[in-house]
Amino acid sequence: MYHSKITGLGFYVPDNVVTNDDLAKIMDTNDEWIQERTGIKERRHIKRGEDTTTSMGVKAAKIAIERSGVNNDEIDFIVFATISPDFYFPGPGVALQKELGLKTIGALDIRNQCSGFVYALSVADQYIKTGMYKNILVVASEVQSLGLDMTDRGRGVSVIFGDGAGAAMLSREEDVTKGILSTHLHSEGEYAKELAVLAPGMGGRWVTDIIADNNPEDESYFPYMNGQFVFKNAVVRFSEVINEGLQANNLQVSDIDMLIPHQANLRISQFIQQKFKLRDDQVFNNIQKYGNTTAASIPIALTEAWEQGKIKEGDTLVLAAFGSGFTWASAIIKW
Ligand code: UT7
Repeated sequence: MYHSKITGLGFYVPDNVVTNDDLAKIMDTNDEWIQERTGIKERRHIKRGEDTTTSMGVKAAKIAIERSGVNNDEIDFIVFATISPDFYFPGPGVALQKELGLKTIGALDIRNQCSGFVYALSVADQYIKTGMYKNILVVASEVQSLGLDMTDRGRGVSVIFGDGAGAAMLSREEDVTKGILSTHLHSEGEYAKELAVLAPGMGGRWVTDIIADNNPEDESYFPYMNGQFVFKNAVVRFSEVINEGLQANNLQVSDIDMLIPHQANLRISQFIQQKFKLRDDQVFNNIQKYGNTTAASIPIALTEAWEQGKIKEGDTLVLAAFGSGFTWASAIIKW
């Protein structure tokens, strides 16, 4: 039995900064509302033709690979989390395999929304623990901007989301006191429609139906979010899944060196910080700069925290996510 440990991290965000004032030019919103409700000051949006979900994932992955010291031919498997793939199918895992020139290794696509990275990490961790693989590239990348309703109608959702990618190399660790100590995954499909893009889908309205209807009022292919309901569930589930991870490892809240919450809303992170009575240096947030990048938010934040020297050898890290599904998850890591 082995453990898995993160040996390399990388992230990439597009250059194009979209401030709250930029959004106020195209929809009925303002900087004060967005900052007060979400903490977001700006986010990145790709420029069409310059970046895609795959290309951003590749850029983040190259940095993670380089930092890990693992050669491309030593990578055994790809796990790619996204809800915004370049194609309806196949998922971007195979495109990443091609773009990086990797061998014909397996590529698994994960679609677990904001929990996607922690789910992906958990899957990769199991393959490494059993000894099946030694090095797994875990990537999360999202292009939200092209799928948002950028009119007044969509303002409650569109101001929150941003584009970006993060990646981690997960490698075999023989010391079982180090690396990923445990992961905890949950879902509650009863609330699937409280945060969802309902179309196109094979079980409902497919592309041909949408075209045939030709209805300008159609909102079904834009994200819908019951914001306050999602918020209330998020704070409860974040707390539960953090506690679950701590208990599973006989850890106390005081043992947490760094909590990296999915960057859903700064207010959610602050609520959790207060609830667990964590100091500012025990929680890392960067939603102010990037908005909510769904599956990519945790690896982007993790990479930035690491780059800023905020994660040190021996630290106890908690990753926690909540999002559409509902799905929620945590990972406890000894760095
Ligand atoms: O990552 C996945 C998980 N996602 C989350 O965790 C998100 C959870 N939810 C939230 O973060 C918050 O619910 C939001 C930030 C999305 C919204 O904040 P809220 O305090 O719940 O606002 P609200 O939806 O209740 O809207 C309050 C008011 C409404 O106006 P009235 O009805 O009071 O006149 C909205 O129409 O704010 C209005 N509003 C806006 N005003 C300016 C909604 N969006 C905007 C906007 N700019 N962008």
